[in-house]
Amino acid sequence: MEIIFNSTQDSIKKAAKALKDGHLVAFPTETVYGLGADASNPTSVARIYEVKGRPKDHPLIIHISSTSQMDKWAVDVPEYAINLARNFWPGPMTLILNRSQLAKDFITGGQDLVGLRVPSHPTSLMLMKEFENLGGFGVAAPSANRFGAVSPTTSDAVLEELGTFLSGKDFVLDGGAAEVGIESTIIDCSGVTPKILRPGIISKEQVEEVCGLQSIDNILGSKVKTSGLLISHYSPAAEVVLDGKTSPEDGFFAMAEIETPTGAIRLGSPATIEEYAKNLYSVLRLADQKGLKRISVIQPSGDGLAIAIRDRLSKASAR
Ligand code: TXA
Ligand code: MG
Repeated sequence: MEIIFNSTQDSIKKAAKALKDGHLVAFPTETVYGLGADASNPTSVARIYEVKGRPKDHPLIIHISSTSQMDKWAVDVPEYAINLARNFWPGPMTLILNRSQLAKDFITGGQDLVGLRVPSHPTSLMLMKEFENLGGFGVAAPSANRFGAVSPTTSDAVLEELGTFLSGKDFVLDGGAAEVGIESTIIDCSGVTPKILRPGIISKEQVEEVCGLQSIDNILGSKVKTSGLLISHYSPAAEVVLDGKTSPEDGFFAMAEIETPTGAIRLGSPATIEEYAKNLYSVLRLADQKGLKRISVIQPSGDGLAIAIRDRLSKASAR
């Protein structure tokens, strides 16, 4: 595979051409890195599942360059979803909508719903634009990690996860450390009111303000299949413990004001909740790189982004 640092318009064009030719391109977004394929090419999309080791019926998010592309993939888009798109795209939000004929079963996992997102990272936005300039409709991309593992927030982490599974004509675009650090807020817009399926940096309150509607948090038993809803996910090899019990030799991650317990190995001291989210996945990776058996994590309190962080941590700690 070819790794592109300091991407220019020309190198991004090359990567867009590779996508159009059926190859895979891992790319930075503001949330986490994605592993992209032409969303209209069943063979390329099948490779995503192979490289990730992901079950075939798990749907993929389609990344597009702007809200104006939404109607290609979705039909009967409710007004509240258009408002969400206008307010938060490009940005860390995925909308689940009724699919058009373009969104085939191999993207949606056989559901009549399609997930769409316009990412804001300049490299991903340009990649989507160049891909559309070549006649492409959208780029299917899950997080660029092996199934169930921790999402990558740097190009190094992508290589660590997928390096041995990518082939000679695939690309990895570097775009620095992801700004947000955890995956997009997923909102099911197929009903009369929005339903938050996966919390993220765009909060329930923000969604409700824009929609003028009350949103519903995902209730277990939702009919929508979404792998982020699995009980165990985002897991490092090290055991993640959340009960505050820390033994010597454990990794330790908490907000800066919390002291390191005796003997524990401090892996990070974020000063803000945003910094906490941004560093979380690289800290989980660091625990594995150091060969630690356990990492004790003190969860942040509060709502908004803290809810999304606690969601990921509860899944990372489930076995
Ligand atoms: O921030 C993100 O969303 C990142 C970046 C790369 O965009 N992507 C990401 O993709 O997290 P992935 O595949 O790791 O997680 C996407 C979640 C999955 O749980 C998937 O099941 C759900 O979105 N999803 C995608 N399409 C869906 C659909 N049509 N219906 C229900 N859930 C869907
Ligand atoms: Mg994922």
